[in-house]
Amino acid sequence: MTASKRIVLSSDHAAIALRQTVADHISAQGWEVVDIGPKTPESTHYPVHGKAAAQAVASGDCHLGIVLCGTGQGIMMAANKVPGIRCGVCSDAFSARMIRAHNNANMLSIGARVVGEGQALDIVDAFLEAEFEGGRHATRVDMIEAQGD
Ligand code: RB5
Repeated sequence: MTASKRIVLSSDHAAIALRQTVADHISAQGWEVVDIGPKTPESTHYPVHGKAAAQAVASGDCHLGIVLCGTGQGIMMAANKVPGIRCGVCSDAFSARMIRAHNNANMLSIGARVVGEGQALDIVDAFLEAEFEGGRHATRVDMIEAQGD
C-alpha cells in the first residue's frame, strides 16, 4: 500500500449512509480509507467536516479526499478555504473525470440528496480513475494557486 492510495472521507449528517457506501466501495478497490466521521446521525455542521478532511489532504497525510453533504455544495466551499485544496462538487461522471484531468482536483464533493447511490459510485470511480493531464492545464492550475486564499 503506497501513500498515494490513502483517501480521507467525511460528511455531515445528511450523507452518513452514502459516505459508508463510498467507503466500502473504494476500500474494495484497495484504497486505504481514512473515515473521519461523523459516525452518529445527529445534526452537525458541514464546515467543520469539510475543513478537517481538507486539512488531511493539504498536510499530505492523504493523497485525495471525498466529502459529502446534502447538496455537496457547503462542504465543498468549506474544503476550498484550506490552502492547496481544489475541491469540485460533481453530479455526473464526466465532470468528476474532468476535475482531475484538467483542474487537478484533490478533493471531490457529492450531494447525497442530489444523486442516487449508483450515480455516486460512478462519480467516485471516474474521479479516482482519471489522471491530471498537465501541460496547459498545469499553467491554469498554477494560476489558481497563485491567487492565494
Ligand atoms: C444540511 O441540512 C444541509 O444544509 C447540508 O447537508 C448541505 O446541503 C449544505 O450545503
